[in-house]
Amino acid sequence: MNPIKRGRIITGNWKMNKTHAQALDFIKNLIPQLTNEAVQVFLAVPFTVIYSSSKEAVGTPLVIGAQNMNDASEGAFTGEIAALMLKEAGAQFVILGHSERRYYFHEDDAFINRKIKRALSMQIRPVLCIGETLEERESGRTQEIIDNQLRSCLADIPADTLKNLIVAYEPVWAVGALEGATPEQAQEIHAACRVCLSEILNAEIAQQIVIQYGGTVNSDNAGAFLEQPDIDGLLVGRASLSLQSFIEIINPLNNEDET
Ligand code: 13P
Repeated sequence: MNPIKRGRIITGNWKMNKTHAQALDFIKNLIPQLTNEAVQVFLAVPFTVIYSSSKEAVGTPLVIGAQNMNDASEGAFTGEIAALMLKEAGAQFVILGHSERRYYFHEDDAFINRKIKRALSMQIRPVLCIGETLEERESGRTQEIIDNQLRSCLADIPADTLKNLIVAYEPVWAVGALEGATPEQAQEIHAACRVCLSEILNAEIAQQIVIQYGGTVNSDNAGAFLEQPDIDGLLVGRASLSLQSFIEIINPLNNEDET
């Protein structure tokens, strides 16, 4: 795994969208617009697109990854996909524990913990999604939920291997919503995540871990999130589906960095 630095990692999560042809067309048009090395752009594409989009991305700043995987190395798990399959297809990272996986497919922290271990053992960077539901937030339990998810999902993993981890704070109530968290709300939880990570791992590694915010990010609010000291990047759903809106999130950053 190539080392990454805290900074601006913008990840598009396409979810269950885009055919092979649509994806390649998008990626071929995206790549020439990725001119600033200060912004790293990751794209989590459907399984069917990983192989050809990884080939397209070789030698470019674009990093291709997957949206899920199984924890087993191989076997009778109909419909599932293994880390080695992703690795061979060219995936460099994998989103794990997304709230849609937790909600629709009943994935729990123990399963996600095993997936993280498998991904790390295969040199695939895990992007661990955590976040509270609206009910949990309204009952004042956000901090407790986040702490529990981090501790359970990262249990029994050597601290030094986790510097390759990305954490994505995605409040469940902000995913696919009309309004997401405010940058200040997100910063508060990101800072708390870093404190928790320094307790689970150590302060030095906690300082290195990239913590992204996700949930209703668009070109209007992206810059304000990235101004926060503990927000190191963004995980973007809907706004990554159109080339124009995705570029609008990436390119204002390019412009800032060039001045
Ligand atoms: P939206 O940006 O569509 O709210 O989705 C966020 C998300 O789930 C990214 O993983």
